[in-house]
Amino acid sequence: MTVLKDSTQDQLLNLTDCKGELGFCTSSDLQTHSKESLQELLSDPRSSFFLSSADGQITTVNTGQNHSAGDQTLSALCPQLTWQQLGDATFCSEHRLRYAYMCGAMANGIASAELVAASANAGFLGSYGAAGQSLDAINTAIDYLEQHCGENNFCINLIHSPNEPEHEGKVVDLFIKRGITLIEASAYLNLTPAVIRYRLHGIYRDDNGIVQAPNKIIAKASRIEVATRWWNPPPEKMIAELLAKSEITAEQAELAKEIPMAVDLTAEADSGGHTDNRPALCMFPTFLALRDQIQQTQKYSVSLRLGLGGGIGTPSSAAAAFSMGAAYIVTGSVNQACVESGSSDNVRKMLAGTEQADVTMAPAADMFEMGVKLQVLKRGTFFPMRAEKLYTLYKSCASLEDIPPADKKQLEEQFFKTSIDDIWQQTQSFFNEREPKQIEKALKDPKHKMALVFRWYLGKSSRWANAGDATRQMDYQVWCGPAMGAFNEWAKNSCLEQAENRNVKLVAYNILHGCCLHLRLQMLKQQGVGIHASLFAQKPLSMDVLERFA
Ligand SMILES: Cc1cc2nc3c(=O)[nH]c(=O)nc-3n(C[C@H](O)[C@H](O)[C@H](O)COP(=O)(O)O)c2cc1C
Repeated sequence: MTVLKDSTQDQLLNLTDCKGELGFCTSSDLQTHSKESLQELLSDPRSSFFLSSADGQITTVNTGQNHSAGDQTLSALCPQLTWQQLGDATFCSEHRLRYAYMCGAMANGIASAELVAASANAGFLGSYGAAGQSLDAINTAIDYLEQHCGENNFCINLIHSPNEPEHEGKVVDLFIKRGITLIEASAYLNLTPAVIRYRLHGIYRDDNGIVQAPNKIIAKASRIEVATRWWNPPPEKMIAELLAKSEITAEQAELAKEIPMAVDLTAEADSGGHTDNRPALCMFPTFLALRDQIQQTQKYSVSLRLGLGGGIGTPSSAAAAFSMGAAYIVTGSVNQACVESGSSDNVRKMLAGTEQADVTMAPAADMFEMGVKLQVLKRGTFFPMRAEKLYTLYKSCASLEDIPPADKKQLEEQFFKTSIDDIWQQTQSFFNEREPKQIEKALKDPKHKMALVFRWYLGKSSRWANAGDATRQMDYQVWCGPAMGAFNEWAKNSCLEQAENRNVKLVAYNILHGCCLHLRLQMLKQQGVGIHASLFAQKPLSMDVLERFA
């Protein structure tokens, strides 16, 4: 209500007074009497207006106009709801954003530096897909972001790598060296020394006695126990270990007790990539209750914030997230289909034709041995079936030599299209540079050697997809959630239907704009004014139309 102009305050009171007289206006009423003006007013989220009913007529009344409440019966108020009003304003102010909207990280640079810079320059947050990337590639991406984001903020992903703890530590060292103060931390089950070290770097107590931690983490979790770890201070045991190894100072250890590991946490529901396939409607309220409980117990000087990702690809799903209380929303799948993503045109085309049921779970490369799965596209590729076969063989065989001959033949001829010996050579070269311990372990443990060879296929399959290698289309591993299908349904017959027209700014602005329209229609409905869907087809708009609302 604070958005109403002074001249509207009386009207607001009158609306309250005549609550008992609220009526329901039908679509035909609106068509007859005020279709155009209502359409125009509703489609501009910056407008506040009343609907009033006099002599059975429905008329719109602009708040700016000199309107006397005495001669009409006010039916409903539609307050301004701009894109900036969605979510938690402190999320935007703290991270220097215009909109509480984030393009989540997508591994292997699928959330490319270009995609992140486009997000930054359009007023929302992008997270660079550093998972699976070499230190050199991450360093180059930071150079690009520093050059192309101006004063706007950006974020980089830190992914938990249980198989490569050394790499995770080196990525943190790089972030600290390059002064990266905002990261999206994901796939953690437990906190690691590396991520705690990142959070505590530069921590100090300010003149008001409040502990400030310049390095900020937007954590991502789909389990309540993981969220609990992020919203609490770093565990004392790990702090003691870091202190004993002189990786943090005694002062850092002391100050650590007063801050959460992360102020911002994204509850990740059924999404593309790593996911527990949890329904957003069930998990979000549970996370919200946890946030409130930890906030009460810890009495932090800052308020913890909860965002929502997973399944958001349309204005109404964004509206559902904000209605439940999301401080910000995170999209993923829909951004991979955009021109800036590090994926290929082949994949973008496949994604543009994806329906909601075209996704399935398949074994993940990074946590293959643990049986972890991720959500991928199944239409147009054999990857999910082939990856499942590899996992079955891994479980049933003690070593590569133990694989039945017929299966070995199938792997080498159809899946790998090269010999297992050749793959082992490539694997050794890769890990000798990145994590030599993996090779040492594999030489002692044949099952680990088998895992590394199978992970070659799982790793390559997403690279083939990103590179658009047409000879490997049947092996494409494309991480994707059902949000993609929902988006495609909505985008049908609009400027966003074709893959080549999709860019992160147009997608985000359409989601935000449509979300405001959706919420305003709901507000009217709750006041008894139902507006027929045919009057306001919530279809994507072009950038020319959208830009004036940004
Ligand atoms: C292709 C792809 C790759 C992803 N890779 C990562 C990743 O490396 N790190 C991460 O934190 N999240 C990753 N995600 C998750 C997204 O950041 C985001 O949280 C999620 O996609 C949101 O759900 P949605 O796919 O339903 O929009 C990935 C998602 C996709 C679609």
